[in-house]
This record gives sequence, structure tokens and C-alpha cells, in this order.
Amino acid sequence: MGKSRAVASIILALGLFLMPNWILKAEEPRYGLGKPATEADIKAWEIDIAPNGAGLPQGRGTVQQGATLYAAKCAACHGPTGTEGPKDPLVGGQGSLASEHPIKTIGSYWPYATTLYDYIFRAMPFSAPQSLTPDEVYSLVAWLLHQNGIIQKDAVMDARTLATIRMPNRNGFISDLRSDGPGH
Ligand code: HEC
Repeated sequence: MGKSRAVASIILALGLFLMPNWILKAEEPRYGLGKPATEADIKAWEIDIAPNGAGLPQGRGTVQQGATLYAAKCAACHGPTGTEGPKDPLVGGQGSLASEHPIKTIGSYWPYATTLYDYIFRAMPFSAPQSLTPDEVYSLVAWLLHQNGIIQKDAVMDARTLATIRMPNRNGFISDLRSDGPGH
């Protein structure tokens, strides 16, 4: 082995030896990036609603209020009665899932009403997600459940009543043992 090769080997060996120290050092705040999450940050992220209703906020809404809101904020994409589109139908389709033309809607497909709250607050309206107040979301949920024939016209939706609703397709899912999916 020539002299320069030997030196190169020693440098390489030193490099490998030193590497773990560099990796450890990378945990130190050397670049001044990031900051600890505040209580408010965490609260803004913590919006998930569990199937059993855990996480549902205070507030309430009626079918009537939902009708007005839906016409103003949702009908353009989902159709005046929730069936016409142009985007996903939200109403109808019950009994169609096993047919040649299954229509997946809230009424025909969704296993829980509670997660409808989660989805609407989290993602809708498409162009302004998380802009709705709890009362508005409860009202929209009420209107959509009524349109699907699941609740009466005078029903009031809140954290308690929403969690008691049994969706038509609740038993249409099988357990996936790898997860705590809807079958559980
Ligand atoms: C600008 C168009 C637009 C508007 C307005 C809009 N949506 Fe949507 N909505 C969509 C699109 C697109 C999807 C499908 C999103 C996806 O699959 O990722 C969707 C999906 C949904 C779904 C899920 C459907 C399913 O079964 O998978 C619900 C529920 C829903 N919207 C409710 C609402 C409500 C309530 C409003 C009014 C507050 C609203 N949307 C306003 C475009 C819109």
C-alpha cells in the first residue's frame, strides 16, 4: 500500500468513526428552524371526530338552517337536492350498492353520521375548508341526514343526538383485522 493510500484509508476510517457524532449533533438546533408547538397550534390540528362522537364540539343545528346554508355554500357543486352533482352525490342511492350501478352517498354508504361532521368541517366547502362554525356544520349535517331520510324534519343535531344516529349501511362493512376500521 502506497503512502497516500494509507493516509486515505486513515481519513476514511476516521470519517466513519466521526459520522455518528455528526448525526447526534444534527439534533441540536443549529439551523434556527422550527419552533415548539403552542397549545393553540395543537388545538387547531386536533379536529378529528371519532365514530362514537368523541371530539364533537358544542353547538347545534336544525334541518331548516341547514337548507339555507346548503343552498348558499354547497348546492353549486353537489346539486340543489344533493343528487344532481356535478361533484359527488350526497343524497339517495340507498339499496344501489350491490347493483350494477352503485351510487355511494351519505345515505347509501357512510357507516357513521359522526364522521360526516368531521369531513364537512375538515374539507368543505371545497374552496374554503375549516371556515364553517360548529352550528353551521351541525345544520348542514342535519339537512343532509334529513334529505337522506335518516332523521325527521324537526330534529336538532348536537354532540349528543348526532352520536345516537344509526346509519343505514352501518353493517355494510367487514372487519379488517389490521385496523380498528368501521367493522369494529
Ligand atoms: C367547489 C365545489 C364544492 C363545494 C362548493 C362543496 N363541495 Fe363537497 N365536495 C366537492 C368535491 C370535489 C368532493 C370530492 C372530494 C374528494 O373526493 O376528495 C366533495 C365531497 C364532499 C363530501 C363527501 C362525499 C362522499 O361521500 O365521499 C361531502 C359530505 C361534501 N362534499 C359536503 C359538502 C358540503 C356540506 C358543502 C357545503 C358546505 C360542500 N360539500 C361544498 C366539491 C365541493
